[in-house]
Amino acid sequence: MSRPSITDLERKYLLDAFDSGWISSLGDYVVRAEDQLTTIASSAHAAVVSNGTAALHLALLGLDIGPGDEVIIPSTTYVATLNAVLYVGALPVIVDVDPITWCIDSEAVREALTTNTRAVIAVDLYGHPADYVLLKELCGQAGVLLIADAAESIGGSLHGMPVGVLADVSTFSFFGNKVVTSGEGGAIVTEDAELDRRVRKLRNQGNHENRRYFHDVLGYNYRMTNLAAAILCAQLERIPDLLSARQRVVDHYDRLFEGSPALTPQGRAPGASASPWMYSVQVEGAAAAQRDEIMLKLRTEGIETRPVFNTVQSMPYLTDFRAHPTPIAHNLAKSGLSLPTFPAMKPDEVEYVASSLLRACAL
Ligand SMILES: Cc1ncc(COP(=O)(O)O)c(C=O)c1O
Repeated sequence: MSRPSITDLERKYLLDAFDSGWISSLGDYVVRAEDQLTTIASSAHAAVVSNGTAALHLALLGLDIGPGDEVIIPSTTYVATLNAVLYVGALPVIVDVDPITWCIDSEAVREALTTNTRAVIAVDLYGHPADYVLLKELCGQAGVLLIADAAESIGGSLHGMPVGVLADVSTFSFFGNKVVTSGEGGAIVTEDAELDRRVRKLRNQGNHENRRYFHDVLGYNYRMTNLAAAILCAQLERIPDLLSARQRVVDHYDRLFEGSPALTPQGRAPGASASPWMYSVQVEGAAAAQRDEIMLKLRTEGIETRPVFNTVQSMPYLTDFRAHPTPIAHNLAKSGLSLPTFPAMKPDEVEYVASSLLRACAL
């Protein structure tokens, strides 16, 4: 599915951090990565953390969201979006996704708003930015916070505005399969100086600003190491190349699947420039029910694929929640799959995956 693109630059920075002795979470690379992120996301503040789930958790805590609050999330997302809401004791309100972009359906959000709604978490699924224009308007009118779970979408944009400035706060993941990786890692990006201050404090055990070993709030150890940050700095420097190499793969798949009745690729909204993270399609017609068999068939041909996320409300530990009807998300969970997408993928490999998939759908 994925192979990180790590070069001599990552190696150089990593060894430099290692040789400096600053291998824990103090160090120049942490500061440097945060600076680079503010530039890439055109945002005033960026705080790096240990992973994207921690980033979401801290964003919610920093915004003081907790018990008694409702948080609207899409049914189709990685489980971390749901878990962060549960960590803070808020009620997840689950709504459907858009049939074209597979991102949270703004009209469904409008219907799900109540007087207890504190926030909406929009997820930029597989790199496609959610409908922030409408979501911002809805949230603004309702006095509700808008959080972008941009774990999968660094480098994307909407109407020319980069992912990172499209919501009140945005979170990234730098897991090994992401467009930009630090091994494990994440970040919280915002224009809000007070939120940034709170997030920094919470990631560092709630340390009091002036009194050592005094913790005036319940905090966490969600810090990123300088070693991880060194890798991240190299990746962020290389982001134009990382994006264009992936985009080449995505464009190639697009051409190969164009006009095929068997598959519908995840669509794009007008004005949206998706981050080329993971090319995903929905199997159509009679073959849709055979998605799992198709994946097995591809496996025997040496091709790894991924099913689209199960609906979050199907997780057995989730007991306290509200779910609106989610027919699109259910259908995607049954008939959607993601294809190998990574910078080093060669044109003949893309062709091999595409032709194998089309053949498997026809069986
Ligand atoms: C949509 C989404 N949200 C959150 C996360 C959590 O990120 P991490 O795995 O770095 O904790 C991921 C990453 O896998 C993701 O895809």
